[in-house]
Amino acid sequence: MESIWKLGSRGVAEHPSLTEDSEVDVAIIGAGITGLTAALALAEAGQRVMVLEAATVGAGVTGGSTGNLYATLASGQAPLRRKWGDEVAADVVRARAEAVDHIEVTIERLGIECQFKRQPAYRLSTEDRQHARHDLNEELDALVSAGLDAEMAESPGLPFDSWGIRIANQAQFNPLHYVEGLANRLQGEGAVIVQHSPVREVDPGKGIVRTDEASVAAKHIVQATHTPKGINLVQAGMLVSREYAVSAKLRSGEYPEGIIWVLDPFHSLRRYQYGEGEYLMVIGEKHKTGEHHGDHYQKLREYLETHFDVEAFTHGWSAQQYSSPDGLPYIGRMHSHDNLYMATGFAADGLVWGTLAGLIISDQILERDNPWHAHFGARRITPGKSALQYAKENVTVTKHMVKDYLGIEKLETFDGIEPGQARVATVDGEKLAIHRTETGELKVLSAVCPHMKCIVHWNPSESTWDCPCHGSRFDTDGEVIEGPAYHPLAQPEGRA
Ligand code: FES
Repeated sequence: MESIWKLGSRGVAEHPSLTEDSEVDVAIIGAGITGLTAALALAEAGQRVMVLEAATVGAGVTGGSTGNLYATLASGQAPLRRKWGDEVAADVVRARAEAVDHIEVTIERLGIECQFKRQPAYRLSTEDRQHARHDLNEELDALVSAGLDAEMAESPGLPFDSWGIRIANQAQFNPLHYVEGLANRLQGEGAVIVQHSPVREVDPGKGIVRTDEASVAAKHIVQATHTPKGINLVQAGMLVSREYAVSAKLRSGEYPEGIIWVLDPFHSLRRYQYGEGEYLMVIGEKHKTGEHHGDHYQKLREYLETHFDVEAFTHGWSAQQYSSPDGLPYIGRMHSHDNLYMATGFAADGLVWGTLAGLIISDQILERDNPWHAHFGARRITPGKSALQYAKENVTVTKHMVKDYLGIEKLETFDGIEPGQARVATVDGEKLAIHRTETGELKVLSAVCPHMKCIVHWNPSESTWDCPCHGSRFDTDGEVIEGPAYHPLAQPEGRA
């Protein structure tokens, strides 16, 4: 299955893979919206920039996102206001609205075709009005007090009962086409983008980034990888989850316009048009990474079929989210080194946070003032606002460490593993992740995550090995897909 954003994708001109050592001003790890926004600002300011991408431009979370751009947060403005107060909640909206404006201006300036369109956002309840009124009133008050143009509204043409809040002047686009546009412009500016080059080590003390084949020396190193690579304190309190999306063509009925959040408890709906084709997508089924329950794609298909006259399903994709313990992202210079930068904790709102992060980090490197750095700085400490989630996530990690190590079944033979099945088991004292492909090939890897030694879990919806502790994910050959791990799952000696 692949993302709907690949429709019409032209990709990016391939740069030869990195085989020789090189030197730049700024090495950026990750060619998603964060890395490429920073790279463009830096390259246009005359910096020598190299972007190192493990897969292809936009292939990570940017290309797995919703394409929705909004100034508030998907989790709601009222919870943010309760936690941080009026001033910070309004600054979040101002900062994010500026980032959406930046995307719009960049699209116009560079002539990027990515179907950008200003659209309203809706926050809708399906409960009876009396029941939902208090929560929606609180949310509306928080949105208006933060400066947004919001009002109570009826459903935007949905075929089921719903009502709630309409927020004017938000936006939608194709996020993959956007970052491909940024990448193409960057190459025109002389920046180097190296794809298919996973980074295996970052040595900020020496200012070195290493891939399998070569090293890059850089004055500044930006980890635009959604979570910092390696071991970092920030991972201890981060809630890591996955969310799924499917799209469909309808046989009859309207494709609803706008960003539509349905609080039932949560599905996000939107229409997308590419060429002559019209599509409806639904996003939801969020779960903690590594804690998989059932077929999430199938549940989303059933949701669409319950409410719409579906003719055919067309695409399916998913993305990872990192939610910070105090509800705001960590962006900028890291505690450990002045030449090392990160951007994480974007929750479900990463396209806008990623853009803002790219601008904040590039301003830090260029020693320019940025009004938003103070709220979102990677060096902030907020124990009063984060203690509960820190405690919960550390319990989760401990639980997995104990339960997964003690609870692994012992296997004498792999014969009982049928094509398409996977199992974690102890074989001859080794913890193994065993998968038999649909064609019968047996793939055996170490089940021990190379990040901090938790045991990986099988994700049948995506045929990946996912680590429940800090969200590292691996393909069936063991290669890192995303997360803090630098290295693949080990190949046990002497096994097929
Ligand atoms: Fe940290 Fe696996 S991601 S132990």
